[in-house]
Amino acid sequence: MKPKIWLSSPHMSGNELPYIQEAFDSNWVAPLGPNVNGFELDLQSYLKEDCHVAALASGTSALHLSLILLGVEKGDEVICQSKTFSASANPIVYQGATPIFVDSERETWNMCPVQLEIAIKDRVSKGIKPKAIIAVHLYGMPYKVDEINQVALKYEIPVIEDSAESLGSEYNGRKCGTFGDFSILSFNGNKIITTSGGGALVSKTLKNKEKAVFLATQARDNAPHYLHSQIGYNYRMSNIVAGIGRGQMTVLDSHVAKRRSNHEFYVSVFKNNDNIVFLQEPEGCFSNRWLSCILLKSKSIREGLRLSLENENIESRPLWKPMHQQPVFKNAPRYLNGVSDELFEKGLCLPSSSNLTDAELDRVVTTINTYFNK
Ligand SMILES: Cc1ncc(COP(=O)(O)O)c(C=O)c1O
Repeated sequence: MKPKIWLSSPHMSGNELPYIQEAFDSNWVAPLGPNVNGFELDLQSYLKEDCHVAALASGTSALHLSLILLGVEKGDEVICQSKTFSASANPIVYQGATPIFVDSERETWNMCPVQLEIAIKDRVSKGIKPKAIIAVHLYGMPYKVDEINQVALKYEIPVIEDSAESLGSEYNGRKCGTFGDFSILSFNGNKIITTSGGGALVSKTLKNKEKAVFLATQARDNAPHYLHSQIGYNYRMSNIVAGIGRGQMTVLDSHVAKRRSNHEFYVSVFKNNDNIVFLQEPEGCFSNRWLSCILLKSKSIREGLRLSLENENIESRPLWKPMHQQPVFKNAPRYLNGVSDELFEKGLCLPSSSNLTDAELDRVVTTINTYFNK
C-alpha cells in the first residue's frame, strides 16, 4: 500500500515547541496564561482591523457564544448558509432555535444574497424576523460580503461571519474574520493553521469579548465563593494549546502561499482537461485556497474519480453535502435555487495540505490523468 495522501493535514513548523515548553516551565497549563493572551494579540494584529479576539476551545463554541451574545433563544429563527459544514448550523439548535437554510450563488459557492432577501421577506411575512445570519467563506473563498451586508443592514439583522476555513483570505484587501458583527475562526486539525483543536471569537467591542470570556469560563460572578447568575460554559482555550497557536501564527502566511500554489499547480496541469472546472477568484477576492476544489461533468464521474484516488490511498471528498439535504435538518425551512445541490453532485475536494510534496502532487495528478485516459 502506498503512503496515504491526506486531504488537509496538520503542518507543524517546530516554532510551536518553545511556547509549549515555556508553558510547562512556568506551570501555566490552565485555560489562561501568557500564550492565550499572546495568541489573541497575534490574531488581532494579523486581522489588522480594530477587533477583539477571544481564544476558545473550538470554532463551534465560538459560534455558540456568538448566538448567545446576540440573544438567540428558544423559538427564534436563524438564517444559515446551506452549503457548509454542520458545525455552522448545530449551535442554532443548541439554543433551541430553528435554522433557516439559504442556498448559494455560483461565483463564490457561498450564500446567495438574492435567496437571502427572499428568505427574510418570507420569514417576516410569516411573523418571525430572523435573529441572525450565519454566512460562510467556504473552502476559503470569501462570500459576497458587500451584497450580504447590504441585505443584512436593510433588514437590521446581525451577521455572524463563519471564517473557520478562511483565515488568511481577503475581500477588497481586508482580512476575512473582520466583516461580521461577530466572526469565528477554527484551529481544528484540518485547518490552515491548527492548535490540534481550538477556535476564536472575533468581536467588534472589548465589552463583547469580555462577555464571551465570562461565558466561556463558567459565568463566574465576582465573589470569593462560586456565584452564578447565568448558565456558563467550559469553552476557553488552554495555555498549552494557545502555545501551538503562537507557533503556527509564524507560518500562517507561508501556509496560505503553499495552499495557493497547490491550487495554481492543479489549474496549470489540468488546463487542457475540459472535464475539470475550477472555482475562479472573483474580482476583489483573495482566497487562502484552504481546499482546492474541482467540478466534474456528472455525479458518476465525480464518484469514479474519488474511488480511483481512494484506490491509490489518496483522500479526496465530495463538496460538503448541503444542510438542507441532511437527515438531521429534514424539517428545517429552506430557500433553494439548485446551486448547492449541483455543487454537491459534481464537486470534489483534492489534497490541499501545506506540507504536500511535489512527489505527492504528482501522484494525485497521475491518478487523475489515468482515470480520464482510461
Ligand atoms: C465552515 C465551518 N464552520 C465551523 C467549523 C467548526 O470549527 P471547529 O471544528 O473548530 O469546532 C468548521 C470546521 O470544523 C467549519 O469548516
